[in-house]
Amino acid sequence: MSDSTSGQIDSVMTEDRLFPPNAEFASRSAIGSMAAYQKLYDEAKANPEAFWDKLAKAELHWFKPYDKVLEWKVPNAKWFVGGKTNVSYNCLDAHLTTARRNKAAIIWEGEPGDTRTLTYQQLHQEVCKFANALKKLGVKPGDVVSIYMPMTPELVVAMQACARIGAVHSVIFAGFSAEAIADRNNDANAKIQLTADAAWRRGKQLELKSVVDEALAKSPTVEKCVVLKRIGNEVTMQDGRDVWWHDVMAEASTDCPAAQLDSEAPLFILYTSGSTGKPKGIKHTTAGYILWAKKTFEWVFDHRDEDIFWCTADCGWITGHSYVAYGPLAAGATVMMYEGAPNWPLENRFWELIEKHKINILYTAPTAIRAFIKWGDEHVDKHDLSSLRLLGTVGEGINPEAWMWYHRKIGGERCPIVDTWWQTETGGIMMSPLPGAIPTKPGSCTKPLPGVIPSIVDEQLHEVQQNHGGMLCVSHPWPGMLRGIWEDDARYNEQYWTKVPGKYLTGDNARQDDDGYYWIMGRIDDVINVSGHRLSTIEVESALVSHSKVAEAAAVGRPDEIKGQAIAVFVTIKGNAEPSEELRQELKLHVRKEIGALAQPDDIRFTAALPKTRSGKIMRRLLRDIASGNADIAGDTSTLEDYSVLAKLRDDEE
Ligand code: WTA
Repeated sequence: MSDSTSGQIDSVMTEDRLFPPNAEFASRSAIGSMAAYQKLYDEAKANPEAFWDKLAKAELHWFKPYDKVLEWKVPNAKWFVGGKTNVSYNCLDAHLTTARRNKAAIIWEGEPGDTRTLTYQQLHQEVCKFANALKKLGVKPGDVVSIYMPMTPELVVAMQACARIGAVHSVIFAGFSAEAIADRNNDANAKIQLTADAAWRRGKQLELKSVVDEALAKSPTVEKCVVLKRIGNEVTMQDGRDVWWHDVMAEASTDCPAAQLDSEAPLFILYTSGSTGKPKGIKHTTAGYILWAKKTFEWVFDHRDEDIFWCTADCGWITGHSYVAYGPLAAGATVMMYEGAPNWPLENRFWELIEKHKINILYTAPTAIRAFIKWGDEHVDKHDLSSLRLLGTVGEGINPEAWMWYHRKIGGERCPIVDTWWQTETGGIMMSPLPGAIPTKPGSCTKPLPGVIPSIVDEQLHEVQQNHGGMLCVSHPWPGMLRGIWEDDARYNEQYWTKVPGKYLTGDNARQDDDGYYWIMGRIDDVINVSGHRLSTIEVESALVSHSKVAEAAAVGRPDEIKGQAIAVFVTIKGNAEPSEELRQELKLHVRKEIGALAQPDDIRFTAALPKTRSGKIMRRLLRDIASGNADIAGDTSTLEDYSVLAKLRDDEE
């Protein structure tokens, strides 16, 4: 065990199951062995600039070649300096002279079951038309376009159209409140708003336009609003401000050459919740971002031209940016897009979609996987999932038992699982198994991708030893990295580059095991300190989830006079189990047996649901307040998905 002053984290979990890639899968993979991965990794590490130079030339279209691969002065990176390119050109035009011209770019299904397919050529035409429509509405390069739309093909069209003309999009997940939209619009000085009349969600109509009306009343910089008719419900159109999508499209030409943009021209802003106070507008730029999104997509998902790739994330999140709207299109892939909820009309909707469309790759979040486990296997058992060949997860750590369920039940023990670790800030996947090359371990994101140089340090900034946890940093700039926080250089520097000078601070803790595999241990702020031993939330949670009656768990520290902090856990049990005092005792003993007495929870509370962000992450910060008996929840709660969960947890308290 480490001494408590170094700030290292004690790992109490052991997981030694190992799943090597199967030979057939590996034989068809572009990177088909550990040696091939290592060779690529070493090449990138030895000379990152030469490595990225080669890829940028081979993978991207350049209107004008760049003069310099990288200009790096902590904390500001510029990649492919002086070059001119265009993200939309690389995603669309690049395929129009190849056999991919008539390939499906997007296969879409709405929640009610309506479907549409757009080939690359059709998508290109839609994007060109909408780009012309934006220009006609006065949008100029560098202007910010705020997008609040349902998961329809038009959302991707809108993003690509911005990229085509050099406008900067700010996509706001279509579940946020009017207040949250207005805050983001004002921070970004948004000029145009894009929305729809409404969206389908679990059979109900979410009235997006009326939320936008309220937001625009407080967004003085927004001049125009384009409204997509998705459902046909009654909306108010404000004269002089609001126009219909179909009207502006009707008169737009399909001829819109892609603007020749600087490599470092801003591509988008995406707001993420800060742990306190106002959301941060993470800024990504052109050439480095699209190269990262494309290559990481190809490496991690082992892309084959015949695949249908389904990333279930909404384009309101970075995962939907990099692995719906950009990376797969740059790679010429076929993307599945689904508008609605996984449990509508029934809990089998995902499996029905996979069977119906014969989807090959499924990329989803641990929160969804835990929900499927809770809903029961019968929903999966009805369906033929034999088209699947690869599974992925992202967004949170996946508890090893949830991983095993995914492997057995969805993957039929045949599909590799890529547990991908990355962040809005990193632009794309940073650590993940390459499915034909790297044996997987349940709960580990395994190895860094080529070009990623991780470093784990303690509070004194010393590299920690294997099997000890510390702060995860990245040592060298990479093309997909964020280029700042919108209009807030000081906050960018302070947040990511100050605590560990010269390195990018991820805000996560991690450890490396004896095989050099990486294990993410949760957010730095969430560490639980029991009698001087610093424990990771995910390890305690995984021990609970390994009990047959537990679907989901969240562990937090609460003040304790003797131990400093005591462990409080919030547990959601499976549909067929009942909460009881016996179960509570059983769970405490179970954790003790799995990972030791030190990690045994002091309090266990059963709850029907945990507070989560709208993208499905457990909000441990709020649970910490509840466990500590604080009546007032501090900090920003605008990202909380369901306020009633919080109220319910508070009521249970009283
Ligand atoms: C967490 C999502 C463990 C982590 C792409 C990170 C993960 C934050 C994983 C970023 C993973 C994401 N294992 N933790 N595979 N993937 N995280 O910005 O804490 O929404 O810092 O980006 O999610 O979340 P964000």
